[in-house]
Amino acid sequence: MALPWDRLGGLFARYGHRVYPDWALRHLVQHLEALPPGSRVLDLGGGTGVLAGAVRSARPDLRVVVADAARGMLAHVPPGVRPVVARAEALPFEEGAFDAVVVGEALHHFAGLEAALSEIARVSREGGRLWVYEFDPRPLPGRLLALAERLAGEPARFLPPDRLADRLAALGYTVRLVVRGFRYLAYGVLSRKASGRSSPSR
Ligand SMILES: C[S@@+](CC[C@H](N)C(=O)[O-])C[C@H]1O[C@@H](n2cnc3c(N)ncnc32)[C@H](O)[C@@H]1O
Repeated sequence: MALPWDRLGGLFARYGHRVYPDWALRHLVQHLEALPPGSRVLDLGGGTGVLAGAVRSARPDLRVVVADAARGMLAHVPPGVRPVVARAEALPFEEGAFDAVVVGEALHHFAGLEAALSEIARVSREGGRLWVYEFDPRPLPGRLLALAERLAGEPARFLPPDRLADRLAALGYTVRLVVRGFRYLAYGVLSRKASGRSSPSR
């Protein structure tokens, strides 16, 4: 990680929610609506828990974990959310541990993007939900963002929506996209049978 995430917790705790347009947060809440009470949700690369907080506000019955590599970000997670120091590429959770995984503006920061995607599928139960908020590196704002992150020494592994959808489909997700300018959502449900996998790979 080239950005000093451990020192950015205060900034993200204060302003992090501004990254998410209302339509995206509404979509997140709708996508998780079908989860039974007590379901387990992982906010991966969740930082200060912006998404975790939005999920808990809408559904206080859900058990939400924020996993992030930076303790300084996790120090700010909202009450009722469990922080776990972890790298997305090697998660300390059992297979099928979660009913839903959410990843907001974090996927492109993971140096081992392929490993992280496999880990997401591994820790998701069959039928588990996935919701990703990302940026398309092809429109001008996305190109500038990718450039700025590369200059900051970040992995900047931005995938266009259709390419992320293909990667997720290969893991067994039925994927749908919502694209609005350079922002997009990729969301869906895991069906390992559809991918021909009987159990998740590590
Ligand atoms: C732009 S912040 C987004 C945080 C949060 N999802 C939000 O929306 O506010 C990116 C986060 O990814 C985390 N991160 C970067 N590389 C990581 C990795 N390999 N594993 C886990 N977290 C990582 C950083 O520590 C940081 O908290």
